[in-house]
Amino acid sequence: MDGTLRGLAALVRERQPAVVLTGAGISTESGIPDFRSAAGLWVQYDPMEFATIQAFRRDPVKVWEFYSLRFSVLTAAEPNAGHRALAELERRGLVQAIVTQNIDGLHQRAGSEDVVEVHGSIRTASCLECGERESLEEIVASLRETAAPACPRCGAILKPDVVMFGELLPPAAVDRAVELAREAGVLLAVGSSLEVYPVAGLLEETVSAGGAVAIVNRGATPFDGLASVRIDGQAGETLAALAAELD
Ligand code: APR
Repeated sequence: MDGTLRGLAALVRERQPAVVLTGAGISTESGIPDFRSAAGLWVQYDPMEFATIQAFRRDPVKVWEFYSLRFSVLTAAEPNAGHRALAELERRGLVQAIVTQNIDGLHQRAGSEDVVEVHGSIRTASCLECGERESLEEIVASLRETAAPACPRCGAILKPDVVMFGELLPPAAVDRAVELAREAGVLLAVGSSLEVYPVAGLLEETVSAGGAVAIVNRGATPFDGLASVRIDGQAGETLAALAAELD
Protein backbone atom coordinates (compact mmCIF):
# COMPACT_ATOMS: atom_id res chain seq x y z
CA MET A 1 0.00 0.00 0.00
CA ASP A 2 1.28 3.43 -0.93
CA GLY A 3 1.26 6.26 1.59
CA THR A 4 2.54 9.07 -0.56
CA LEU A 5 0.92 12.13 -2.05
CA ARG A 6 2.52 11.28 -5.41
CA GLY A 7 0.84 7.86 -5.25
CA LEU A 8 -2.52 9.49 -4.48
CA ALA A 9 -2.12 11.97 -7.35
CA ALA A 10 -1.25 9.13 -9.76
CA LEU A 11 -4.33 7.17 -8.64
CA VAL A 12 -6.64 10.17 -9.13
CA ARG A 13 -5.09 10.96 -12.52
CA GLU A 14 -5.09 7.36 -13.82
CA ARG A 15 -8.28 5.94 -12.26
CA GLN A 16 -10.92 8.44 -13.35
CA PRO A 17 -13.69 9.11 -12.56
CA ALA A 18 -12.68 10.02 -9.01
CA VAL A 19 -15.42 10.32 -6.36
CA VAL A 20 -14.73 11.73 -2.89
CA LEU A 21 -16.50 10.56 0.29
CA THR A 22 -16.13 13.05 3.15
CA GLY A 23 -16.81 12.87 6.86
CA ALA A 24 -16.63 15.21 9.83
CA GLY A 25 -12.82 15.21 9.73
CA ILE A 26 -12.82 17.55 6.72
CA SER A 27 -14.74 20.17 8.72
CA THR A 28 -12.80 20.12 12.02
CA GLU A 29 -10.37 22.63 10.48
CA SER A 30 -13.40 24.92 10.11
CA GLY A 31 -14.00 24.71 13.87
CA ILE A 32 -16.70 22.03 13.76
CA PRO A 33 -15.99 19.13 16.13
CA ASP A 34 -16.15 15.60 14.71
CA PHE A 35 -17.85 12.74 16.52
CA ARG A 36 -15.44 9.94 17.42
CA SER A 37 -11.97 11.40 17.86
CA ALA A 38 -10.78 12.40 21.34
CA ALA A 39 -12.48 15.83 21.16
CA GLY A 40 -15.53 14.45 19.32
CA LEU A 41 -19.17 15.22 20.07
CA TRP A 42 -19.97 11.63 21.04
CA VAL A 43 -17.30 11.83 23.74
CA GLN A 44 -19.21 14.73 25.37
CA TYR A 45 -22.78 13.76 24.46
CA ASP A 46 -24.40 10.31 24.43
CA PRO A 47 -25.75 9.89 20.89
CA MET A 48 -28.50 7.64 22.28
CA GLU A 49 -29.76 10.66 24.26
CA PHE A 50 -29.38 13.32 21.57
CA ALA A 51 -29.10 11.84 18.08
CA THR A 52 -31.71 9.09 17.69
CA ILE A 53 -35.21 9.51 16.30
CA GLN A 54 -36.49 7.81 19.47
CA ALA A 55 -34.74 10.45 21.63
CA PHE A 56 -36.30 13.19 19.47
CA ARG A 57 -39.81 11.76 19.84
CA ARG A 58 -39.24 11.21 23.60
CA ASP A 59 -37.87 14.67 24.36
CA PRO A 60 -37.65 17.03 21.36
CA VAL A 61 -36.74 20.03 23.53
CA LYS A 62 -33.68 18.18 24.89
CA VAL A 63 -32.58 17.20 21.37
CA TRP A 64 -33.03 20.80 20.23
CA GLU A 65 -30.83 22.00 23.11
CA PHE A 66 -28.06 19.88 21.54
CA TYR A 67 -28.87 21.01 17.99
CA SER A 68 -29.13 24.70 18.84
CA LEU A 69 -25.54 24.48 20.12
CA ARG A 70 -24.59 22.70 16.89
CA PHE A 71 -26.45 25.23 14.74
CA SER A 72 -24.52 28.13 16.29
CA VAL A 73 -21.19 26.40 15.51
CA LEU A 74 -22.26 25.22 12.06
CA THR A 75 -23.66 28.56 10.91
CA ALA A 76 -20.49 30.39 12.05
CA ALA A 77 -18.15 28.00 10.19
CA GLU A 78 -16.40 28.80 6.91
CA PRO A 79 -15.08 26.38 4.26
CA ASN A 80 -11.40 25.49 4.72
CA ALA A 81 -8.53 24.57 2.37
CA GLY A 82 -9.80 21.00 2.07
CA HIS A 83 -13.25 22.07 0.88
CA ARG A 84 -11.69 24.58 -1.52
CA ALA A 85 -9.25 22.04 -2.96
CA LEU A 86 -12.09 19.61 -3.75
CA ALA A 87 -14.11 22.38 -5.42
CA GLU A 88 -11.03 23.24 -7.54
CA LEU A 89 -10.53 19.59 -8.51
CA GLU A 90 -14.19 19.40 -9.55
CA ARG A 91 -13.73 22.53 -11.70
CA ARG A 92 -10.75 20.86 -13.38
CA GLY A 93 -12.80 17.73 -14.06
CA LEU A 94 -10.62 15.60 -11.75
CA VAL A 95 -13.35 15.04 -9.12
CA GLN A 96 -16.73 13.94 -10.49
CA ALA A 97 -18.76 14.37 -7.28
CA ILE A 98 -18.61 14.45 -3.49
CA VAL A 99 -20.67 12.14 -1.29
CA THR A 100 -20.72 13.75 2.13
CA GLN A 101 -21.87 12.54 5.54
CA ASN A 102 -21.62 16.14 6.76
CA ILE A 103 -24.66 18.36 7.31
CA ASP A 104 -22.77 21.68 7.36
CA GLY A 105 -23.13 22.66 3.68
CA LEU A 106 -19.45 23.73 3.53
CA HIS A 107 -18.71 21.86 0.29
CA GLN A 108 -21.36 23.87 -1.55
CA ARG A 109 -20.19 27.12 0.05
CA ALA A 110 -16.64 26.32 -1.16
CA GLY A 111 -17.99 26.03 -4.72
CA SER A 112 -18.50 22.27 -5.16
CA GLU A 113 -21.56 21.69 -7.32
CA ASP A 114 -22.18 17.94 -7.39
CA VAL A 115 -22.59 17.15 -3.67
CA VAL A 116 -24.66 14.20 -2.43
CA GLU A 117 -25.73 14.75 1.21
CA VAL A 118 -26.44 11.23 2.50
CA HIS A 119 -27.11 12.36 6.09
CA GLY A 120 -29.28 15.36 5.20
CA SER A 121 -28.37 18.93 6.12
CA ILE A 122 -29.20 21.72 8.56
CA ARG A 123 -30.50 23.78 5.59
CA THR A 124 -34.11 22.97 6.53
CA ALA A 125 -36.19 21.54 9.35
CA SER A 126 -39.52 19.75 8.90
CA CYS A 127 -42.72 18.99 10.78
CA LEU A 128 -43.23 15.24 11.28
CA GLU A 129 -46.98 15.86 11.76
CA CYS A 130 -47.98 17.99 8.75
CA GLY A 131 -44.89 18.10 6.52
CA GLU A 132 -44.31 21.87 6.77
CA ARG A 133 -40.68 22.78 5.98
CA GLU A 134 -38.79 25.75 7.44
CA SER A 135 -35.49 27.27 6.28
CA LEU A 136 -32.31 27.49 8.36
CA GLU A 137 -32.80 31.28 8.63
CA GLU A 138 -36.31 30.82 10.04
CA ILE A 139 -35.04 28.15 12.49
CA VAL A 140 -32.12 30.29 13.68
CA ALA A 141 -34.57 33.19 14.23
CA SER A 142 -36.92 30.89 16.19
CA LEU A 143 -34.05 29.61 18.35
CA ARG A 144 -33.52 33.17 19.58
CA GLU A 145 -37.02 33.07 21.08
CA THR A 146 -37.58 29.44 22.01
CA ALA A 147 -35.69 26.25 22.93
CA ALA A 148 -37.46 24.23 20.22
CA PRO A 149 -38.94 25.73 17.02
CA ALA A 150 -42.65 24.98 16.53
CA CYS A 151 -44.38 24.31 13.23
CA PRO A 152 -46.11 27.54 12.12
CA ARG A 153 -48.95 25.48 10.65
CA CYS A 154 -49.79 22.89 13.32
CA GLY A 155 -47.67 23.79 16.37
CA ALA A 156 -45.73 20.49 16.58
CA ILE A 157 -42.00 20.79 17.29
CA LEU A 158 -39.99 20.77 14.04
CA LYS A 159 -37.18 18.27 13.42
CA PRO A 160 -33.87 19.21 11.75
CA ASP A 161 -33.65 17.58 8.29
CA VAL A 162 -30.59 15.60 9.35
CA VAL A 163 -30.59 11.79 9.51
CA MET A 164 -30.79 10.65 13.12
CA PHE A 165 -29.85 7.15 14.24
CA GLY A 166 -32.86 4.89 13.64
CA GLU A 167 -33.94 6.83 10.56
CA LEU A 168 -33.62 5.81 6.93
CA LEU A 169 -31.18 7.80 4.80
CA PRO A 170 -32.75 9.85 1.97
CA PRO A 171 -33.34 7.16 -0.72
CA ALA A 172 -32.46 9.33 -3.74
CA ALA A 173 -29.14 10.36 -2.13
CA VAL A 174 -28.27 6.77 -1.24
CA ASP A 175 -29.11 5.52 -4.74
CA ARG A 176 -26.91 8.21 -6.33
CA ALA A 177 -24.08 7.53 -3.85
CA VAL A 178 -24.12 3.78 -4.63
CA GLU A 179 -24.19 4.49 -8.38
CA LEU A 180 -21.23 6.88 -8.05
CA ALA A 181 -19.29 4.35 -5.93
CA ARG A 182 -19.90 1.51 -8.39
CA GLU A 183 -18.80 3.59 -11.37
CA ALA A 184 -15.81 5.23 -9.65
CA GLY A 185 -12.32 4.41 -10.87
CA VAL A 186 -11.19 5.59 -7.42
CA LEU A 187 -13.18 6.45 -4.30
CA LEU A 188 -11.21 8.77 -1.99
CA ALA A 189 -12.47 8.78 1.62
CA VAL A 190 -11.42 11.90 3.55
CA GLY A 191 -11.91 12.63 7.26
CA SER A 192 -14.17 9.73 8.15
CA SER A 193 -13.76 6.93 10.69
CA LEU A 194 -15.77 4.80 8.21
CA GLU A 195 -17.63 3.20 11.12
CA VAL A 196 -21.19 4.11 10.16
CA TYR A 197 -23.22 2.11 7.64
CA PRO A 198 -24.60 2.14 5.05
CA VAL A 199 -22.17 4.88 4.00
CA ALA A 200 -19.01 2.95 4.93
CA GLY A 201 -20.23 0.17 2.62
CA LEU A 202 -19.65 2.46 -0.38
CA LEU A 203 -15.95 1.55 -0.30
CA GLU A 204 -16.85 -2.12 -0.76
CA GLU A 205 -19.15 -1.17 -3.64
CA THR A 206 -16.24 0.51 -5.41
CA VAL A 207 -13.80 -2.36 -4.87
CA SER A 208 -16.28 -5.08 -5.85
CA ALA A 209 -16.98 -3.16 -9.06
CA GLY A 210 -13.25 -3.09 -9.85
CA GLY A 211 -12.40 0.39 -8.60
CA ALA A 212 -9.66 1.46 -6.21
CA VAL A 213 -9.99 3.05 -2.75
CA ALA A 214 -7.81 5.70 -1.15
CA ILE A 215 -8.05 7.09 2.39
CA VAL A 216 -6.88 10.39 3.89
CA ASN A 217 -7.62 10.37 7.61
CA ARG A 218 -6.11 11.17 10.98
CA GLY A 219 -6.10 7.73 12.60
CA ALA A 220 -6.91 4.22 11.47
CA THR A 221 -10.13 3.09 9.80
CA PRO A 222 -11.53 -0.44 9.31
CA PHE A 223 -10.94 -0.05 5.56
CA ASP A 224 -7.23 0.73 5.62
CA GLY A 225 -6.41 -2.77 4.36
CA LEU A 226 -8.58 -2.16 1.29
CA ALA A 227 -6.85 1.09 0.33
CA SER A 228 -4.36 1.35 -2.54
CA VAL A 229 -3.18 4.61 -0.95
CA ARG A 230 -3.55 5.60 2.71
CA ILE A 231 -2.30 8.92 4.06
CA ASP A 232 -2.50 9.69 7.78
CA GLY A 233 -2.61 13.47 7.52
CA GLN A 234 -4.66 16.65 7.89
CA ALA A 235 -7.42 16.84 5.31
CA GLY A 236 -6.89 20.51 4.43
CA GLU A 237 -3.14 20.32 3.96
CA THR A 238 -3.25 16.97 2.12
CA LEU A 239 -6.03 17.97 -0.29
CA ALA A 240 -4.39 21.33 -1.05
CA ALA A 241 -1.12 19.49 -1.76
CA LEU A 242 -3.01 16.98 -3.94
CA ALA A 243 -4.53 19.81 -6.01
CA ALA A 244 -1.05 21.32 -6.42
CA GLU A 245 0.44 17.93 -7.39
CA LEU A 246 -2.27 17.51 -10.05
CA ASP A 247 -1.80 21.01 -11.41
N1 APR B 1 -7.88 15.77 8.97
C1 APR B 1 -7.98 14.43 8.78
N2 APR B 1 -8.72 13.62 9.57
C2 APR B 1 -9.36 14.20 10.61
C3 APR B 1 -9.30 15.59 10.88
C4 APR B 1 -8.52 16.38 10.01
N3 APR B 1 -8.41 17.71 10.17
N4 APR B 1 -10.06 15.84 11.98
C5 APR B 1 -10.57 14.65 12.38
N5 APR B 1 -10.16 13.66 11.56
C6 APR B 1 -10.54 12.25 11.59
C7 APR B 1 -10.77 11.67 12.97
O1 APR B 1 -9.56 11.15 13.51
C8 APR B 1 -11.77 10.56 12.68
O2 APR B 1 -11.11 9.34 12.34
O3 APR B 1 -11.79 12.19 10.95
C9 APR B 1 -12.53 11.06 11.44
C10 APR B 1 -13.94 11.52 11.76
O4 APR B 1 -14.68 10.39 12.13
P1 APR B 1 -16.08 10.58 12.88
O5 APR B 1 -15.93 11.56 13.98
O6 APR B 1 -16.60 9.20 13.19
O7 APR B 1 -17.01 11.28 11.78
P2 APR B 1 -17.74 10.59 10.55
O8 APR B 1 -16.93 9.45 10.03
O9 APR B 1 -18.12 11.66 9.62
O10 APR B 1 -19.08 10.01 11.25
C11 APR B 1 -20.05 9.44 10.38
O11 APR B 1 -21.59 9.27 12.25
O12 APR B 1 -22.58 10.16 14.12
C12 APR B 1 -22.72 9.95 12.78
O13 APR B 1 -24.11 11.27 11.45
C13 APR B 1 -22.86 11.26 12.05
O14 APR B 1 -22.23 11.70 9.76
C14 APR B 1 -21.75 11.22 11.01
C15 APR B 1 -21.42 9.74 10.92
